[in-house]
Amino acid sequence: MSINDLLAEESLEDGLAHFKKLMETGAATSDLWHKHKNGSNRCLTVSAVKLSETRVLGFCKNITDRKQAEDELRQTLESLRNAVSATIQVLISAVEARDPYTAGHQMRTADLARAIATEMGLPGEKIDGIRIASSIHDIGKLSIPAEILSKPTKLSEVEFSLIKEHSRIGYEILKGVQSPWLLAEIIYQHHERMDGSGYPRNLKGDEILIEARILAVCDVVESMASHRPYRPSLGIEKALEEIEKNRGTLYDTGAVDACLRLFREKRYQFEKGLILNGNPHRNFIPKIAGP
Ligand SMILES: [Fe+2]
Repeated sequence: MSINDLLAEESLEDGLAHFKKLMETGAATSDLWHKHKNGSNRCLTVSAVKLSETRVLGFCKNITDRKQAEDELRQTLESLRNAVSATIQVLISAVEARDPYTAGHQMRTADLARAIATEMGLPGEKIDGIRIASSIHDIGKLSIPAEILSKPTKLSEVEFSLIKEHSRIGYEILKGVQSPWLLAEIIYQHHERMDGSGYPRNLKGDEILIEARILAVCDVVESMASHRPYRPSLGIEKALEEIEKNRGTLYDTGAVDACLRLFREKRYQFEKGLILNGNPHRNFIPKIAGP
């Protein structure tokens, strides 16, 4: 009887590796799919020790039920991720339909946030969360009258206080969305500042999530570097000077340093980042990594 008769096709490679390890080290444990004589496959944990060159002692435990439960859990997680992606895509389209300016701002901000989080060495799961939250961070502006959002002149105090409501409203919109990330909270905090001078809750330093601290830097840089209804672009250099000048007081030092490195040493450009995704208005939400 050969290994081909014992093991299912998907476990043949693992089976050979198991045998090699057993011969070389004297012991091996692997989960392998075994062909049962009734025609079905069973997953077994196979533990073996080498007694001599010709004798091996092995134990098997049937773990088929556990494997199937793990598979079902993986599929459930996958569909939860897909559902979140679809929800976010709908929110992006809603903003796009009403306010293309904000939609473009969110896309560019999200791409820079992803680049900074990667530059800072954050784990993949956090990078996904930052990118997704950033892509809808101004969703709360849906509730603000369009005339105020696109007003070409200076805003009155009342108008400005209405605009400031958008981070709280964004939180309210997102707080019911089940997702593996703190999307609602990141959006709630994206106008907070390290010294407590931000809004709406005057959070300080570590009270602000790292995701929101990164988003704050990107939001400022993208806004200053882009045209606004009430002023032309101030240019990327001015934007970088702003974060450099307020590094540690308003903005997170690590996020500022990573941002400066990206633009000044690694030649990051907003447009370049978006080209990587093809059409910036399509397929923006990344395929979210599984566990
Ligand atoms: Fe905002």
